[in-house]
Amino acid sequence: MSKNDFPDFGLTPEQRREAVLGHYYEYPGMDGERGEIWCYTDAYSYAPGATVRLQVSSTAERYRIEIVRDGGVETPILLRENLFSRWHETPDQCSVTGCGWETSFEFPVDPDWPSGGYRLTLTAEGRDGRPIHCHHFFIVRPSLGRKPGRVLQVAATGSWTAYNTWGGSNHYQGITGPDRNQYATTVSIERPFCRGFVVLPPDAPRVPLEIHTPVATAPRYPHMEWAYANGYSKKYASSGWASYDSHFFRWAERQGYGVDLVSQHELHFTPEILEGYDCVAFLGHDEYWTWEMRDAVDGYVERGGSAARFAGNFMWQTRLEDGGKRQVCYKYRARAEDPVFQSGDPTRMSGSWEDEAIGRPGALTFGLNATSGLYVGWGGCAPRGARGFPVYRPEHWAFVGTGIYYGDILGSEGHAFGYEVDGLDYVIRGGLPEPTPESGAPEGLQVLALGMSSLKEESADIAADDQFLSDADAKFVARTLVGDDGEAAVDRVKRGCGMIVNFTRGQGEVFHAGSCEWVAALKRGDAMVERVTANVLDRYLGSFPRQAHP
Ligand SMILES: [Fe+2]
Repeated sequence: MSKNDFPDFGLTPEQRREAVLGHYYEYPGMDGERGEIWCYTDAYSYAPGATVRLQVSSTAERYRIEIVRDGGVETPILLRENLFSRWHETPDQCSVTGCGWETSFEFPVDPDWPSGGYRLTLTAEGRDGRPIHCHHFFIVRPSLGRKPGRVLQVAATGSWTAYNTWGGSNHYQGITGPDRNQYATTVSIERPFCRGFVVLPPDAPRVPLEIHTPVATAPRYPHMEWAYANGYSKKYASSGWASYDSHFFRWAERQGYGVDLVSQHELHFTPEILEGYDCVAFLGHDEYWTWEMRDAVDGYVERGGSAARFAGNFMWQTRLEDGGKRQVCYKYRARAEDPVFQSGDPTRMSGSWEDEAIGRPGALTFGLNATSGLYVGWGGCAPRGARGFPVYRPEHWAFVGTGIYYGDILGSEGHAFGYEVDGLDYVIRGGLPEPTPESGAPEGLQVLALGMSSLKEESADIAADDQFLSDADAKFVARTLVGDDGEAAVDRVKRGCGMIVNFTRGQGEVFHAGSCEWVAALKRGDAMVERVTANVLDRYLGSFPRQAHP
């Protein structure tokens, strides 16, 4: 294979098309005669001392469970054999309503278990005598109170919920609606995670293309082809612990940082948890937030907290129902269908933050807007684009010790830039980018780095029927920002960018490298990206020395 060849996973052209454009997902009974075991927990995160309830549906009567803490090192936590399970009927719309299975096993979170990510593996015997498995994941959150010198990582659980394909519907595709062909505007956390959200083989492709796309070549999508060929979720590379959040958590512990982990539910329901920390970090593909979560971060920064965001795609407002068990996001259909827009408080409409009815652009919290950024490195959106952030202000404190120069590409080695990035409208004067007055950038924001992205697959040479992303997002952003989706409006919005920015707010400060793939560069050991990440954490943690991992 040359570096110009797409990887081949043995699919026919028809299968490749189905892998990208089809709707395939995990559902009870999918493995037929082999048998299955599935599970989920009753929450995403647990306080020390809380009870974890595990719901299991299995064709086998007995199973074993192993739990490890998935940090800088992997620590065995719990092992139980001979637990009892049975098969449950599952509602057709379980993605929306939850699976409703009974609790098979419950256990307390030992107050000695350190905060972090906990991975569980269930193993049983399949009908053919071979083992069957499932994986799940929960967070042990820290107790409330002051935690000097420690980083609080907020896992992007809103995106996990939105992208989870298990049961057939998520916020992207689905089996909801009269013709069973619509994405779900409400999705439940009471269902298993799709395959690839918790564990992945190391060779699973990421979304941004690793190959150098040859001349005049139609886009291909190695991650979806790999998923289809190997029985993983179509969205394994879009969200989840395995593809995103885990890479920062493990890296930071290995570097000697003390890291505590929470879900986004804590931002929403227990915002005071932030007050214990000098630095709160947001990582990966972090696309779905509630109003209350933003209030929590805004208040924390105002009062002197530091927010370090190495993440992309701050796009949609959600609402939580049933104490966080269900997430509502009408997205593209919000103005037409979200009852809150018609008869409630329109600022809580579950659409784009930049919609004027909501009136709370993402830049007000993190300095960047998703609608000014978007795709790079996949499909027909800048497939040969920058793989790192082109640097404009190398003298900034975040770059100390990197040796980086003006015009260098930060993170190209680890491919830190993609596949969704956040930006601002800008001008370049004297070789330096500045946000335009209309960009909505917070007062005093500095643009440190800036790379191009695209909202629309558009090529004079490539046929439109090979498009996966198409122009749907460009039209939506045009409607949102300009008011119509005609050609002129699309032309105004389709050219985006991804930025690294820094600004102060109240007594606090925000640093934001607006790219989903920053974590991929940490995973790959990109020394410059590691140094910048450490510079940000060290500054925000003050003079506290790094602690050994627990
Ligand atoms: Fe996204």
